[in-house]
Amino acid sequence: MCGIVGYIGDEQAAPILIDGLEKLKYRGYDSAGVCTNDGEKFIVEKEKGKIEVLRKSTGDGKKISGTVGIGHTRWATHGEPSKINAHPHLSRSGSFAVVHNGIIENYMELKSELSQNGVKFTSATDTEVVSQLLEYYYSGNLLDTVIKIMPMLKGSYALGIMYRENPDEIIAVRKGSPLIIGIGENENYLASDVPAILDKTRNIYRLAANEIAVIRRDSITVYDTDKNVVEKSVETIEWSMDAAAKDGYEHFMLKEIMEQPKAVHNTIAERIKDGKVVLDEIHLTPEQIRNFDKINIVACGSAYHVGVVAKYIFEKILRKPVEVDVASEFKYRNPIIDEKTLTIVISQSGETADTKEAMYEAQRKGSYAIAIVNVIGSAIATDANDVIYTLAGPEIAVATTKAYSAQLAVIYLMAIYFGDILGKISEEDYKNYVSELLALPEKIKLILKKTEDIKNIASKLFARKDVFFIGRNIDYALSLEGSLKLKEISYIHSEAYGAGELKHGTISLIEKGTLVIALATYEDLHEKICSNIEEVQSRGAYVLGIGCENRQHLSHAADSTIFIPKTCDIMLPSLAVVPMQILAYYMARFKGCEIDTPRNLAKSVTVE
Ligand code: AGP
Ligand code: GLU
Repeated sequence: MCGIVGYIGDEQAAPILIDGLEKLKYRGYDSAGVCTNDGEKFIVEKEKGKIEVLRKSTGDGKKISGTVGIGHTRWATHGEPSKINAHPHLSRSGSFAVVHNGIIENYMELKSELSQNGVKFTSATDTEVVSQLLEYYYSGNLLDTVIKIMPMLKGSYALGIMYRENPDEIIAVRKGSPLIIGIGENENYLASDVPAILDKTRNIYRLAANEIAVIRRDSITVYDTDKNVVEKSVETIEWSMDAAAKDGYEHFMLKEIMEQPKAVHNTIAERIKDGKVVLDEIHLTPEQIRNFDKINIVACGSAYHVGVVAKYIFEKILRKPVEVDVASEFKYRNPIIDEKTLTIVISQSGETADTKEAMYEAQRKGSYAIAIVNVIGSAIATDANDVIYTLAGPEIAVATTKAYSAQLAVIYLMAIYFGDILGKISEEDYKNYVSELLALPEKIKLILKKTEDIKNIASKLFARKDVFFIGRNIDYALSLEGSLKLKEISYIHSEAYGAGELKHGTISLIEKGTLVIALATYEDLHEKICSNIEEVQSRGAYVLGIGCENRQHLSHAADSTIFIPKTCDIMLPSLAVVPMQILAYYMARFKGCEIDTPRNLAKSVTVE
């Protein structure tokens, strides 16, 4: 969500800033802007819409002089997307420039106080209060002023700040939203995420919450809010830009779909040794694990859908009650959990504000939190009691695919690991689960080989207006993800229903030609879902069935079918999700949608 970049060195800043913003656009944005200091004055250029518009108006940044600057891609939360509301925001006399990611929750209050004292605002954003406060309270020292205003700001934010009279300094502040500092030679960088600076440097500092960095050409000093210097350790980024480039694919989403065998393989390979699941990351003793009486899963969006699959798997294998909550609802309902509840937090970015807050709430109540996270060093990964990293590599497309699959792989590992400790898995089942888990990457490859067939199906279905995904048990959990994938990138209205639940109301929406995608992989309930297919067909629905190979019953029941290889029932979602991702991708593509950065969405949602 939104992108911040900053540069201070001897090069012309604006082209570097714009290139950096370009690399952050996967995060989602609606306008973009830069501000440089040419030694005498600020030069600000901002535009509504794509970065290309900013490129055009600034000649790729070349028309803007200055060797220090900050840039921003905005994902509007307060005030419509417009040129005026785009960042950077200046203070009234133009002496402070600010870029901001996040929300200043008490901005109304601050704005009215400042207005009463004669401060005039030009934008409708919450951000502008920051630049205005800086000018209002400026004490002759920027760092001191920043430290002074921080307690006045409620909410979560990352800030890049410049003072016109000091062209030798950028100040970065993190409270909530992520920020990294790229370490160069006689030049330094600021960014929301690594891709923005990876072609410049591999050495970074990650700011933690409530840290303030003073970035100069030849030094970076990080402070806490008491102005004590914080010793940071340098992190060297191992992955290359290639890992974040499209590799000849038209979209990151397709590339990431194709990378799933590798993502799953990497996630499980090091954690299965001599046929045994080894989760060294979990620091709980077997005694502690046995003592939990409940598991509580919190996450958002697709990660939440992984949680729903996990509920079916954990309850089946561990025979412990599992509650899955949408993180944004969890914190504010005074959840009933304590030290006997194990909390599992799932997040690709590790920066999702709702998920992070839900984890803190669980921890405050005494619960032990294990996080499943993709982005190394992110806030959730850092603050959880234990973290199990998914090794999916950087995921760029807003619609998650490989991170979802890698998260599922971790769920299987945990189910086997805990199941063994709790004495709930027979030796034979253990062996079977491990060998099926190791076979998953190859089976996913077999489904990827059907891409052309699925594309062909998509070409016939993309004009549908409404789609219903139905399934039972684990197929129901998976239908949630199928539906989200389709709607987020193709803008086709879709809903997921437990197949048995449809007849309790929603079946009234089925009419001639309505597309129903029936997930029918779960053996035990195969006959039941086939009956549900007939129910909707007899009301005019066109049914696409997704099931396991050699299921003649499904071939007869559905109007068309996609078959996946067999595996043990708990791991079916890892296979069945793949055709749904490919289908969503091609339906969106046939509709001409902008796939990697769908409208209104952000990759990492750092506001509550
Ligand atoms: C997935 O395709 C979505 N873009 C979204 O639902 C996402 O899964 C959700 O915002 C959670 O993100 P996280 O995994 O980074 O916490
Ligand atoms: N809340 C700020 C705004 O609406 C910043 C949003 C963002 O993170 O891009 O301008």
